[in-house]
Amino acid sequence: MSGALSGNVAVVTGASSGIGEATARALADAGATVALLARRRDRLESLAGERGGDTSVHEVDVSDPDAVRRAVEDVVARHGRLDVLVNNAGYGSMTPAAESDLAEWRTMVDVNVNGVLATTHAALAHLTEAARGERGIADVVTVSSVAGRKVAGPAVNVYAATKHAVGAFSEALRQELGSAHVRVGLVEPGLVRSELTEGQGAAQRAESEMELGLMEAEDIADAIVYMVTRPRRTAVNEMLVRPTEQTR
Ligand SMILES: NC(=O)c1ccc[n+]([C@@H]2O[C@H](COP(=O)([O-])OP(=O)(O)OC[C@H]3O[C@@H](n4cnc5c(N)ncnc54)[C@H](OP(=O)(O)O)[C@@H]3O)[C@@H](O)[C@H]2O)c1
Repeated sequence: MSGALSGNVAVVTGASSGIGEATARALADAGATVALLARRRDRLESLAGERGGDTSVHEVDVSDPDAVRRAVEDVVARHGRLDVLVNNAGYGSMTPAAESDLAEWRTMVDVNVNGVLATTHAALAHLTEAARGERGIADVVTVSSVAGRKVAGPAVNVYAATKHAVGAFSEALRQELGSAHVRVGLVEPGLVRSELTEGQGAAQRAESEMELGLMEAEDIADAIVYMVTRPRRTAVNEMLVRPTEQTR
């Protein structure tokens, strides 16, 4: 397919639902060949079947670094290169600390922090190699959150900690990789309708309070595609995107 990303290969983690699924569609619409990573193979296969072309499916738990490395190597073996990494897979459990389960906290760290580290580590050499090619640029975009900029309420405890951590990591990477022409960006969504917010009841609560309502996953996908389709001289390093009426 022709488009700004024609000839480019993109990995999207958490592509089986919500923001990741919408981003995979939007990157494919922009011409990229997209590799879909997540645990729910059936959801990935149905998206790949719908998109056709060379879309590939990689069933992987991002908290397993060996499996992540194998999946990234499979992507490069199949498609020959890796130009864009979207670290999107995430998990959130918003429970006051005193009522929280330690295992839930550890899952958030494993997926939201260790998953981002494992995927980025596995992809780095391929991204820098792609940046030396004809496009002259490669991209890492990590999906953080408003909760990565500030702690807006008590129950976001560990979720906010994980998103602050990836924000710091992303800024350090940005400083390290600019000279290699690997752009590093962070997207910080406010409330988006997805399985994550529906599961927490947050979507329903917000909707009853907001006239305009939550964002859709496509709104964040648009932001990500904007970031990775800038001219190579321009890097959008951070984007905070909230529903118009979200106050915190
Ligand atoms: N919705 C919001 O309001 C909001 C706001 C700010 C930031 N975010 C962030 O946006 C990102 C996407 O969330 P979403 O709202 O689109 O929620 P979602 O629909 O629940 O999507 C989460 C995705 O992450 C994947 N995932 C979770 N654990 C995984 C694991 N261990 N290994 C591999 N993949 C895993 C899920 O796939 P499988 O279950 O198939 O593995 C799914 O595709 C997250 O990083 C989230 O923190 C969301």
